[in-house]
Amino acid sequence: METKRVWTVFAALTGIGLGLGFLHEPETIWVPSEVKAGKEIYELFCAGCHGQEGYGTAQAVGLRNRGLTREYIVNLVRTGNTVMPKFANMSDSALANVSAYVLNMQ
Ligand code: HEC
Repeated sequence: METKRVWTVFAALTGIGLGLGFLHEPETIWVPSEVKAGKEIYELFCAGCHGQEGYGTAQAVGLRNRGLTREYIVNLVRTGNTVMPKFANMSDSALANVSAYVLNMQ
């Protein structure tokens, strides 16, 4: 009885540990084929301002190590803001690809 209880507590703690572990996993929602396709889109539409390698230019900040999320990038590219132009006609797959490419730079 006592042993069983110990195991139950152990199992519960391990479960919690594993569960929380996911919070620290890097965001791995992009796939290599998207990153590859995204490079072309990035170079065509984004590099002029954000730099060929994503380190920025006089026009705009670099996109590396800014803790960006996919949702944030997709929304911003789609809708733009006061300084960032919008790409309202960019297809969902192009948005997925270019955001994957930018995330991969992080
Ligand atoms: C005409 C220039 C221009 C082009 C082209 C452009 N951007 Fe931007 N972008 C900006 C400017 C300016 C900002 C705002 C930078 C700032 O806040 O200092 C910005 C901001 C951003 C940010 C937010 C950065 C942050 O840390 O908050 C992201 C992400 C971004 N751009 C992605 C893209 C992507 C992806 C493309 C190509 C589809 C693109 N941009 C094309 C000018 C441009």
